[in-house]
Amino acid sequence: MDWFIASEVRFIAAERGSSYLRIGILNGGGDCAGLNAVTRAVVKHAEGYGWEVIGVRYGWDGFLRGDYARLTYDEVKSLIGVGGTILKSSRTNPAKHPNGFQIILENSTKLGLDAVICVGGDDTLGVAAQLFKKGLKVVGVPKTMDNDLLSTDYTFGFDSAVNEAMRAIDNLWTTAESHDRIFVVEVMGREAGWVAAYAGIASGANLIIVPEEPFDIEEVVSFVRNRHERGERATVIVISEGASLKKQSEKVTGESPVDEFGHARLGGIGQFVGEEIERVTKYDTRVVVLGHVIRGGPPTAFDRILSTRFGFAAVDLIREGKFGMMTSLRGTKIIAVSLEESVSKQRLLDSDTLSTMKMVSY
Ligand code: F6P
Repeated sequence: MDWFIASEVRFIAAERGSSYLRIGILNGGGDCAGLNAVTRAVVKHAEGYGWEVIGVRYGWDGFLRGDYARLTYDEVKSLIGVGGTILKSSRTNPAKHPNGFQIILENSTKLGLDAVICVGGDDTLGVAAQLFKKGLKVVGVPKTMDNDLLSTDYTFGFDSAVNEAMRAIDNLWTTAESHDRIFVVEVMGREAGWVAAYAGIASGANLIIVPEEPFDIEEVVSFVRNRHERGERATVIVISEGASLKKQSEKVTGESPVDEFGHARLGGIGQFVGEEIERVTKYDTRVVVLGHVIRGGPPTAFDRILSTRFGFAAVDLIREGKFGMMTSLRGTKIIAVSLEESVSKQRLLDSDTLSTMKMVSY
């Protein structure tokens, strides 16, 4: 890749003709599988139109510091199956930096960018929506393993995380059966239970606990005891990191650092549940926190295809001058939706998934 700082940019628009555009692309927030596949599709499609693509490194932080790279298809063509992001990412919030928004607008002008493709979750796209109002020509692409973005049926990164979690839980099942053990498996997902629900259903978990429905620890313990008493001595419980107790007075996790968007680092609820089960029942119990293991690694075929389609669609939105919009999957179609509306609230588990989750519980 060809790294440079804004002051070194040569303005070549005049040489290239009126259809030439220089577009930026950045990745913000937690990484997930499929980010590189989006970059690859964007560069391919943009080059097809004779445009130039500039990668802004480390999300909004790269825009503030002036950290960019010129991208060519030759450099990104082999990345469809590579996890993580070659563009790097950060949880930088320009609102928390003096004149942050102004600096980004100025740097975008200095770079000669005609538009910017922002690939991120609600935080990154929320910043993009604000910058759009301030005059930056942005297009959003929804990414997050949490699958909690409004206005799209799926975000890429989710399917890959679910598949990784499913494989891990499949493995836990065999050891749980061998030792007649209880396994409590904690998965990421913040305040949305999508990963826990899908991974739990797909791996045949006995009980799935999600943030959308606060729980009673006594009920969980009884559930395990009932299974045990009817001869089911191995139990797998999948719990989302954001799950909480109905009795708020029971504090289960300690203080944790907060990022620039105000999100606390979650985790610890699985440990609490495991310890309570073992303390009350004396059944042999283990807690497994899958954490970032399911966020890293290569994208599934579904995510590679969704990322590729999103990347192509984002470039076409720029071509059509549809700024302030986000690519979205609706059924089998890719459509454009309002960026502002998409970040207006979080998408939590729907009633269909919640009821499937309960029906599989046994
Ligand atoms: O938003 C994606 C996510 O993986 C959440 O599920 C999780 O709570 C958080 O990011 C973890 O963030 P970090 O990578 O900063 O630890």
